[in-house]
Amino acid sequence: MARHRLPLAGLALVALGLSSCAGVQSALDPAGHEARQVATLFWVMTIGAGVVWCLVLGVAVYATRLRPEPHGDAVGWRLILWGGVVFPTVTLTALLVYGLGLMPQLREPGEGLRIDVSGEQFWWRITYRPAEGPLVVSANEIRLPVGERVEFALTSPDVIHAFWIPSLGGKVDMIPGRENRLVLKAETAGVYRGACTEFCGASHALMAFDVVAMEKAEFAAWLAAQSTPPPEPDGEAKRGRDLFLRHGCGACHRVSGTEASGEIGPDLTRFGARATLGAATLPNTPDAIARFVREVDVLKPRAKMPAYPKLPADELSAIAVYLGSLK
Ligand code: CUA
Repeated sequence: MARHRLPLAGLALVALGLSSCAGVQSALDPAGHEARQVATLFWVMTIGAGVVWCLVLGVAVYATRLRPEPHGDAVGWRLILWGGVVFPTVTLTALLVYGLGLMPQLREPGEGLRIDVSGEQFWWRITYRPAEGPLVVSANEIRLPVGERVEFALTSPDVIHAFWIPSLGGKVDMIPGRENRLVLKAETAGVYRGACTEFCGASHALMAFDVVAMEKAEFAAWLAAQSTPPPEPDGEAKRGRDLFLRHGCGACHRVSGTEASGEIGPDLTRFGARATLGAATLPNTPDAIARFVREVDVLKPRAKMPAYPKLPADELSAIAVYLGSLK
């Protein structure tokens, strides 16, 4: 029985490993041009290394098990010449030429839309700069048109962060005082996940974002709609807005069309349309919003936003209803 258990455990491990190769945040499940190039390079290198490993093991088994008796000098020299000089030179040159050949394709310029992304402790400031039309400011969610090379300008005002959307391509450091460029093209509509991949402080692991790749026409309509203020709230949402303004949330957050015009924290103009809150920390539900405002110090250690543990529950819930209504 024990003899069968080992292969079974191995199979389970392989299955577990392979299951993490797919999904919204996997470089091995590419949905964009750049990620596909990188994934192909990965497989070519992996299979190439596997073949070389098998050849070396084959020679070792041959020399130690199959024909352990001494060989003549001529055989030894031939092995060194072909196996030690010619084969590695040809193989490594071929892999190098293939790898270098991919690089210019990854550096092609964008096709009009530019998105500025600033990594901040611990969220993402997003500014869309379309070829025509006004700027659109957002946070913690990036929308992209499918089939278009979009140029990202990446920077940071505080510490080094890194921008990576494994399904689409990347990753590039975000360095204070510098602007790094990255061009990505989504090939399949869908929702993906990006993350900060450079340790940047206590909440580094709580700094992710959703990426929504949309059909071109749908994206154009979405972007155009962003320049109008969200609809006037009524009922509980209106009460929430008044509380939001009265408690001074507008000192750090901006909501277009209101007197809230702060720029320290994330822009909340279309907050309700995002699937997650707190840079993909929690699902965007009224309960989660209220909880986030109440105990952000617990949910996101060292974030600049102060917690509001003393706000009455009914006020928190009204603010949550208001924020959720901003679509
Ligand atoms: Cu930002 Cu890690």
